Amino acid sequence: MTHTPVAIIGAGPAGLTLAHLLHHNYGIESVIFESRSRADVEETVRAGVLEQGTMNLMRETGVGERMDAEADIDDAIELAIDGERTRIDLAGLTGHHMAVYPQHEYLKDFIAARLAAGQTIHFETEVTDVAGYDGDQVTVFYTTKDGQEQQLTADYVMAGDGSASPRRALITELPGAVRARHEYPYAWFGILVHAPQTQKELIYANSEHGFALISTRTPEIQRYYLQCNPEDTVDMWSDERIWEELHKRVSTDDLRVAEGEIFDKAVLRFRSAVTDPMQRGRLFLAGDAAHTVPPTGAKGLNLAVADVSVLAPALARAIKKNNTDLLDAYSSLAVPRVWKAQHFSYWMSSMLHTVPGQEYFQTERSRAELRSVLSTEAGRTYLAQQYVGLDLPKFEV
Ligand code: DHB
Repeated sequence: MTHTPVAIIGAGPAGLTLAHLLHHNYGIESVIFESRSRADVEETVRAGVLEQGTMNLMRETGVGERMDAEADIDDAIELAIDGERTRIDLAGLTGHHMAVYPQHEYLKDFIAARLAAGQTIHFETEVTDVAGYDGDQVTVFYTTKDGQEQQLTADYVMAGDGSASPRRALITELPGAVRARHEYPYAWFGILVHAPQTQKELIYANSEHGFALISTRTPEIQRYYLQCNPEDTVDMWSDERIWEELHKRVSTDDLRVAEGEIFDKAVLRFRSAVTDPMQRGRLFLAGDAAHTVPPTGAKGLNLAVADVSVLAPALARAIKKNNTDLLDAYSSLAVPRVWKAQHFSYWMSSMLHTVPGQEYFQTERSRAELRSVLSTEAGRTYLAQQYVGLDLPKFEV
């Protein structure tokens, strides 16, 4: 039977970044299991914002070249109230930037780097069971693409298999473990459009008709989001209705949302969830397997990167130095940042959206909050710092 130091379930941001950091920074091998096909992983439409720390990590570990060449790296974002736009000068206020670089492009770069380094990713391979995590060695049971049942042993296992992770229950069933959840009374309708850029910088627009976000993918493809009802389905949003709502929420005399052929439509649910702890024995969770954030601010991928920025040196210290102090502290190091990201995503969401049927008092209070933030340098600085992201944790091994 084969043995690997670290078995990784899921070739998403958490799994691929962990595998890359282990190999690039510490020369530690791992095996990745992914239930989907490579094409599926590389094509699924997800959010698109990288924090400064995520950009730095890519550059410092040799996977930043295409991102630097192709990402839309911005100095600023704009927030609008009823068409009146305020520029948040991220670079001027924080010295940092943000990059619009879709998650699937990030994944492509990490998959390519891993395959070039001769490291394994088992695509279309289902992990059926994980055993031994409370003992001295983990066993991972899996079914290969051609239906063979196999197993592999590992010193440690990381589940980065998304918000429906079957592994999470192994931790939440422990006495004292927490799974905190929150649901929001709105969702986003996301579209991809063949159109020129509306403008270079992102626009987060609050309006009496609801929220809208103008983002981008390439000079020819744009990504727009509209606040919608969580129960809405794709067929309820004709192209006509989409353009009418986008113009009502964003367009003004001096800025018109660029229209074009819509080629992708989807409803994105708003949910928050936090798992604490994120570990049990030799099993660790990272990314969406442990926590979910709503899309506003696009913290999901960045939070997965932050998790594994703790987990990679912690595993390296355990494997190479036989010292588990950092590994034992993983949850206590990772969870506070998760809560900060939850707060930021919740705060941005609640300040920017209009809750249908909500009391007049709450609507106006929340718009006053947004105005207070936008009209003071302290407010804009706080928003900018959270938006570009806190520095990633660094540990010596
Ligand atoms: C995008 C998504 C977000 O949630 C956000 O806050 C900004 C941009 C995007 O997909 O482009």
